[in-house]
Amino acid sequence: MKEVKIETKVQVFDDVNELPENVQNLMKAAAEARDKAYAPYSKFKVGAAILLENNEVITGSNQENASYPSGLCAERTAIYYAGAKYPNTKFLIMALTASSNNQITDKPIPPCGACRQAIAEYEIKQDQPIEIYFMGATGKVAKSNSLANLLPLGFDRSFL
Ligand code: THU
Repeated sequence: MKEVKIETKVQVFDDVNELPENVQNLMKAAAEARDKAYAPYSKFKVGAAILLENNEVITGSNQENASYPSGLCAERTAIYYAGAKYPNTKFLIMALTASSNNQITDKPIPPCGACRQAIAEYEIKQDQPIEIYFMGATGKVAKSNSLANLLPLGFDRSFL
């Protein structure tokens, strides 16, 4: 038996104002999308914005349903729409932000496991990393240079 250590890295910015200007703009688009989320059950609103290589920004928010599992996260709403609209256009940067009625969200809130798996598919498909910035409604912003950093031991097409 041998133990295998897996390390990963994210960068943390103290404030959104420290981000490059284009990312600040992307985060603003994510916040606008977040405020349009349909989240009557969880009262937890998430917004995602994706900068495509054609310079277009695609946004999404979580869409809930009375039959809870039928709802969809913001990240997948955005990424599937972008993939459907531009099947051959690369995703460069994603910005994510979340707010809650139950608490102040001032720490970086990472994408859920299912969304990491979904984003990983597109990163592999385009053979180019997607930068991901994520935050609460305020406070620090975390950045990962690639989705792969957020999903160690991921499952992908190579196993099929
Ligand atoms: N949610 C997202 O939109 N993205 C995530 O990565 C985590 C969770 C949504 C799903 C549900 O509408 C609400 O947040 C509470 O889980």
